[in-house]
Amino acid sequence: MSDSSMGRPALDQARLAHTPGWRVEVVPETPSTNAVVSARAREGTAEGLVVTTEHQTAGRGRLDRGWEMPPRAAIAVSVLLRPDVPAERWPWLPLMAGVAVVETVRELGCDAGLKWPNDVLVHGRKLCGILVERVEGPAGSKPGAAAVVGIGLNTSLTADELPVPTATSLAIESGAPVDRTEVLVTLLAHLATAYDAWRERPDELAAAYGRLSVTVGERVRAELPGRSALVGQATGIDPWGRLEVRPDQGGESVAVGAGDVVHLRPAPPAEGGMT
Ligand code: BTN
Repeated sequence: MSDSSMGRPALDQARLAHTPGWRVEVVPETPSTNAVVSARAREGTAEGLVVTTEHQTAGRGRLDRGWEMPPRAAIAVSVLLRPDVPAERWPWLPLMAGVAVVETVRELGCDAGLKWPNDVLVHGRKLCGILVERVEGPAGSKPGAAAVVGIGLNTSLTADELPVPTATSLAIESGAPVDRTEVLVTLLAHLATAYDAWRERPDELAAAYGRLSVTVGERVRAELPGRSALVGQATGIDPWGRLEVRPDQGGESVAVGAGDVVHLRPAPPAEGGMT
């Protein structure tokens, strides 16, 4: 056991094995749970596989960033989905996962919100990141494409262990020990509920997202590739998961997709319009 995992219990595999609706596998160490599940998706594994680990050593983040976590101090989990939903609606999947995470941590007593598209923040600090990757099946094959939903949730990291000063953990926020197994079981239950809502009642999921959002209604600066930026009021999320922004300079709302925004920041008061 490494120094940093001393005193941090292992996940309770027996309990996780009985998680309703999911097939949970725990691996001691892996570079990336998303890489493991993506490989299984390519082999044709059915929906519902969940892979988690005690220690993820080379996690993947959004926009080609990395994702770090000490052993047993966080949840790294990836879930294999095969949604029977038109591909144009898939950009909502990361937002769906964000709703599930925020509902989980709120149930555990932590007042979190969602920064568009899917950063889970507590008092402005990042508690959890989500990376959804689409994995294509061989052309014309059954099953076809899959979605790998990867979630990295900081559970017991101390302030010294945070990868960046703008991050936080459940233990820092609550001041109490955190049971990772309990958090993961709760998360998988909320993920099942949010996934059903997304497939069958998308308006209900969109309403839940709006209630949990800390972005909609705020002034934002969306930094776009090539040094341009869109500044204005965030007014909503469109059916494709894009953020709608009414520019300060006037005119129609502009919808920006998650892949187009390099950084989303609160807009300083004096900024205005497309720059
Ligand atoms: C982000 O950049 O905010 C997203 C981070 C996503 C990290 C999680 S941890 C579990 C899963 N496996 C990975 O390699 N990445 C995701």
